Amino acid sequence: MNKFTENFLWGGAFSASQSEGAWNKDGKGIDTQDLRYFDSLWTREERDKNRNINMTSKIFEKALKDTDDKHYPFRWGIDFYENYKNDLDLFQELGLKIFRTSISWSRIFPNGDDKEPNEAGINFYLNLFKECQKRNIKVFATILHYNIPVNLITKYGGWKNRKLIDLYVRYAKTLFEKLGNYVDFWLPFNEINCSKFNPYNGCALIKDQEKDYEQAIFQCIHHQFIANALAIKTGREILPNAKFGGMIARFTTYLATCNPNDVMQKILDENYKNYFYTDVMARGKYPSYTKRTFEEKNISIKILPEDEKILSDNTVDFLSFSYYMSMVSSTDSTLEKTSGNLVSRNKNPYLKASEWGWQIDPIGLRISLNDMYDRYQLPIFIAENGIGAKDILTEDKKIHDEYRIEYLKEHIKQMSEAIHDGVELLGYTMWGIIDIVSCGTLEMSKRYGVIYVDRNEDGNGTNLRYKKDSFYWYKECIEKNGNI
Ligand code: BG6
Repeated sequence: MNKFTENFLWGGAFSASQSEGAWNKDGKGIDTQDLRYFDSLWTREERDKNRNINMTSKIFEKALKDTDDKHYPFRWGIDFYENYKNDLDLFQELGLKIFRTSISWSRIFPNGDDKEPNEAGINFYLNLFKECQKRNIKVFATILHYNIPVNLITKYGGWKNRKLIDLYVRYAKTLFEKLGNYVDFWLPFNEINCSKFNPYNGCALIKDQEKDYEQAIFQCIHHQFIANALAIKTGREILPNAKFGGMIARFTTYLATCNPNDVMQKILDENYKNYFYTDVMARGKYPSYTKRTFEEKNISIKILPEDEKILSDNTVDFLSFSYYMSMVSSTDSTLEKTSGNLVSRNKNPYLKASEWGWQIDPIGLRISLNDMYDRYQLPIFIAENGIGAKDILTEDKKIHDEYRIEYLKEHIKQMSEAIHDGVELLGYTMWGIIDIVSCGTLEMSKRYGVIYVDRNEDGNGTNLRYKKDSFYWYKECIEKNGNI
């Protein structure tokens, strides 16, 4: 017997930069994701190596001048900007109750600090959200999913500059005023802990421009915490009925052994990778363990006297996370590693992995849900979960992705178990509901969707959409409210 509530929000998610394309249309400014370079001839190793986790000035400057789209997959995405009505029709056919997407800051404020917002950008999202409403699909909007106007790097140096807080809050306020009637859930930041593990995406830092990289990262994160709190404050004033959440990439951690050293390491890993972020957003203050971490790492960030109250007065209504895999904590540095979302990790011999080495662990989702609910007693939204795989389009235009069905089925079963355990689970927005450009490796061949997009790594293809076998499976799962 499954435990999903009547109003459980079955959904799908993606981000603006990975889907929209139209990178320089209708007044959009260039953003940080438009500058990420990819070559379809790269080997697997080169693809992993060139993920731009640490952007360099050289790559950045070259990309700024490059007007050719070919090597910049985020410039074309899947042309959702042009195709959104057709895609929404498919989402409606699927029975989605909620759609999570992000808004592109540089469509609204092309340079981030413009005096007036770009009307064409606002209208795009207004029309998109109205079309969702027409189809009875609720909207879960992420205000920032990695792509910030490049001017905020070249002129201000990224999030380490406190000025970005004001600019971000002004951007968020514009969204609340203009789009607020059409949005049910707001997420100020996608995976706020990503700033630590992918500083270019997360906090717009270019490594070789920083004297003390780690110090700069934590300064950025502090500014994002304040921006998050002030956006929530502003949002609540304008939209008293909306819900505002906090999100992390959940790095659920297991013990390698019962050696006390490993047990301690697990506590440190959990604090450092996960709880630090949710503690600040949900409890409204820096946790006590950060003092020691900062001392040991010689980090001293600027915190203004008013910041304490800003954080404590404006905590989140709900928490959310992306969950793709679990990890293993150990003090033994010789353990075999495997790759994963944002960080590489120790291999778990009990788990299978995706083609990209991401360890598949449905029970880890139940563990993550219990753990987070137990710590904060706040409702939870699973903002991302899914499997990236190399799907094959057959001659008769079918995609037999039984591995994806299996992945989803097993994770959804564990969600039901978690609800049975007492977790208040609001919804599930499967990632990425339609094939998009991979955020980590920029590959189009790393497909997550239940809808196939006929586009290759080099941007070529018909761009037509096809329903995968998982489309029909997920549709039935939604119809039966998870009774699968
Ligand atoms: C999440 C990001 O961390 O992982 C998404 O929020 C991303 O943007 C997803 O697409 C999956 O990662 P990848 O690298 O396989 O696209």
